[in-house]
Amino acid sequence: MTTTTEFSGTARATDGEPPVRWTTRWETSLEPREHDDIAALLARSYASTTTVFTHGHSWAGARPELRILGHHRGEVVAHAAVIRRFLRAPDHDTSVLVGDVGLVAVDPDRQGLGLGGALMDTVAATLRRLGLPYGFLTCGREVRGFYRRCGWTPLSDHALRSISIDLALEDHRHNGMLLPVHRSADEWPSGPIERNGQEI
Ligand SMILES: CC(C)(COP(=O)(O)OP(=O)(O)OC[C@H]1O[C@@H](n2cnc3c(N)ncnc32)[C@H](O)[C@@H]1OP(=O)(O)O)[C@@H](O)C(=O)NCCC(=O)NCCS
Repeated sequence: MTTTTEFSGTARATDGEPPVRWTTRWETSLEPREHDDIAALLARSYASTTTVFTHGHSWAGARPELRILGHHRGEVVAHAAVIRRFLRAPDHDTSVLVGDVGLVAVDPDRQGLGLGGALMDTVAATLRRLGLPYGFLTCGREVRGFYRRCGWTPLSDHALRSISIDLALEDHRHNGMLLPVHRSADEWPSGPIERNGQEI
């Protein structure tokens, strides 16, 4: 899947600027130079966290299978990543297919202009095109409001068992968020959720 769309910005975007160009790219289509550019953006956007991005290594935990990139004047200014996986719902002995989303980032110089919202619109459109029932992500409290604004719902009643970026087994977290795509939130299984894999 290599698709390209454009985002002309909002009333808050600078007049006369060319639009941000959105591209969806499979992991194996990315050139080494593009990994460098993505790693540099992630290093800037996540500078206040403990997550480290080194030259050429444009992921932190699980390696994504798909990237959503926003380019402006040839530079990567926004990024999100997706990996498809099954989350287990042990109370129901069932699993649910999700697009697990992570590495959501907007260039610090461009935050607060609507670019993050446009990025998440492109993420939702990508999940829809992939035919996925749900989008899923984990995040800290400090950005939960952002994802809510983008149509995601906190899974506060669902304890999550997962493997963190630094490979620690995390249990009883309530940091999941859900985006209904081709199925409704009502059909999401009740009770705890297991992500038997590492966070992106
Ligand atoms: C989170 C992030 C992607 C938001 O990007 P952005 O371009 O600043 O977001 P937008 O300007 O599109 O904001 C969209 C809406 O979310 C709101 N919002 C943005 N950040 C928010 C936050 N941290 N908490 C609550 N609401 C937030 C905005 O006020 C806006 O609301 P509005 O539509 O009512 O005006 C960006 O701040 C970022 O890259 N942060 C560093 C990396 C990070 O923390 N990523 C998430 C890891 S889970």
